[in-house]
Amino acid sequence: MSPKPRQIVVTSALPYANGPIHIGHMLEYVQTDIWVRFQKLRGHECIYVCADDAHGTPIMLRAQAEGISPEALIERMHKEHLQDFTDFGVAFDNYYSTHSAENRHFAETIYTRLRDAGHIRTRVIKQAYDPKAEMFLPDRFIKGECPNCGAGDQYGDNCENCGATYAPTDLKNPISVVSGETPIEKDSEQYFFKLEDFEDMLKSWTRAGHIQTEIANKMDEWLDEGLKDWDISRNAPYWGFEIPDAPGKYFYVWLDAPIGYMASFKHWCTRSGHDFDTYWNEDSVTELYHFIGKDIARFHTLFWPAMLHGAGYRKPSAVYCHGFLTVDGQKMSKSRGTFIMARTYLDHLNPEYLRYYFAAKLGPGVDDIDLSLEDFSARVNSDLVGKLVNIASRCAGFINKRFDGNLGATLSSDSLNQQYLETAETIATYYEKREFGKAMRDIMALADKVNQYIDEKQPWVVIKDEARSSEVQDICTIGLNCFRQLVIFLKPVLPNLAAKAEEFLNVANLTWADLDNNLLDHSINRFNPLMTRIEPASIERMIETTREDLIAEQKIQQGPQDPTFEAIAPQIDYDDFARMDLRVALIVEARRVEKSDKLLQLTLDIGGETRNVFAGLSNAYRPEDLEGKLTIMVANLAPRKMRFGISQGMVLAAGGGETDLFILHPDTGAKPGMRVS
Ligand code: 2FM
Ligand code: ZN
Repeated sequence: MSPKPRQIVVTSALPYANGPIHIGHMLEYVQTDIWVRFQKLRGHECIYVCADDAHGTPIMLRAQAEGISPEALIERMHKEHLQDFTDFGVAFDNYYSTHSAENRHFAETIYTRLRDAGHIRTRVIKQAYDPKAEMFLPDRFIKGECPNCGAGDQYGDNCENCGATYAPTDLKNPISVVSGETPIEKDSEQYFFKLEDFEDMLKSWTRAGHIQTEIANKMDEWLDEGLKDWDISRNAPYWGFEIPDAPGKYFYVWLDAPIGYMASFKHWCTRSGHDFDTYWNEDSVTELYHFIGKDIARFHTLFWPAMLHGAGYRKPSAVYCHGFLTVDGQKMSKSRGTFIMARTYLDHLNPEYLRYYFAAKLGPGVDDIDLSLEDFSARVNSDLVGKLVNIASRCAGFINKRFDGNLGATLSSDSLNQQYLETAETIATYYEKREFGKAMRDIMALADKVNQYIDEKQPWVVIKDEARSSEVQDICTIGLNCFRQLVIFLKPVLPNLAAKAEEFLNVANLTWADLDNNLLDHSINRFNPLMTRIEPASIERMIETTREDLIAEQKIQQGPQDPTFEAIAPQIDYDDFARMDLRVALIVEARRVEKSDKLLQLTLDIGGETRNVFAGLSNAYRPEDLEGKLTIMVANLAPRKMRFGISQGMVLAAGGGETDLFILHPDTGAKPGMRVS
């Protein structure tokens, strides 16, 4: 009898809804997805939930910079994120949002339970206040010099130069991003979670096998210092949930972010008809695992278990931290073109290359993982194309051409397939313990064995002897059954390749339990290449596009730093630009337009032609000051009928107002009619 299936809930950290997914994120989602797919393949119930982390100041600022509502931004991001994940083969059972009714419900429930049990207290603290804008300033609305390294132009919560985190009141020479004023300190009442109430529980929980030793050691630094109250509130304006009994105060994003795991799971329960309490009650016997980056360990291994415990919910079975992704040995870098967005990767390369490479490098620890681009293509080409796919392509031709697609009815020896079976439990244990690198190493060693077997048997020689043709069928049947077993082993890592292999082998949905079911007297389908080699040119193009992407992204990010900055319009391509015919124009005459308080009527000489143009310049220029000047006009703009006549083009001017408007002049030497490009 097979053992009872486990009931497992798995999460990955919720990505912020203020920017795109990059390959650094993907390391975690791929790691989690492989683990989840492995559990499902083994027949367990394993529910993988995630969501966008949709609250907080950066999201509010980004929406402002784009000139859209936060709701519109998070809706768009949700779609984009989910598409990226799906295209990378990351298969959530539910992908939700922290800006949801369920999350509000659980955030309020947890907060009120903590409050009623005496774990919340309020305190008046000094907070930065903008006296001109008359508002408290969230951390990210204050900029100044880093108190640690002195770098200028840093936000009030952490330094992008040295990584230090601090309070906004620690910044040197701070200014408000809203008004440019120096903030003052003003008393403000805030809500605190009394973490110290959970000190004993956390001291034993962090040492009871729920977290990695490296992380437990790190958490000891906080536990030994004595746990401090955690400020879970933020003043308006804030993008999040208002605290139920505290108008104008909002839950800090990190309060409702992990609660988003519950909210997404609840949403899955509603959709699938499962009972939420079975999984989240204090005495639940189900398993709960959080996969996260080591940078957010404190939230997940101290604050989160304390919140759950204090509110009467179960705690995680384990929190698994991983390290960061480096590219070619260095931090992902915008200027080097290695800060690669998931979408950019997908536009150039097969996602399963990266899934395999990550798997080959991942272990259970918190060390950083390096994506060395040269090693990446060498390894994928050698292991997946050279070893794995090669087995199928070597055997399929003979079976299809010489045996009408039929595998042999018996095997002369099943020793190879048996060796594979004997390794299966070791491989399974590696997957279970997140030793993916070791699993890949063992799987590839098995692939080597069958390739050697085929090399030795030389079916391409044997086939020439008509009398020995059944030997070829036997060799290839053994080979393809080994291939089938390898596909099962690799299915958590390479779901798309596995699906194509299933189609080729003419079998439905292979599971771990099928390892032992050799295909005999079975007809297979035509073989199509299951994966092609990585071309170096694809990597180069991806790096180049990454550099270009980041210039556009940086411009949006720079938006909020200057409150008057207008968001950059959506990108156009060169052809869009080239359709505009810009010409140098001489302003021959400029006249006021009667009954219009904005327009001047300009007569423009563009070399071969004269144009009549009405321009909204009368509050910025006196007509006589314009006459005789050269400017630039859009010469192929369709004529527009206006109240005062027809306008045959437009002159270019900088600025958006009526008085702050500056016409553009070409440099000395330009002549009317010259094309501007
Ligand atoms: O660090 C981050 O990207 C957070 N958005 C992770 C949140 S994980 C969970 F707590 F929601
Ligand atoms: Zn610094």
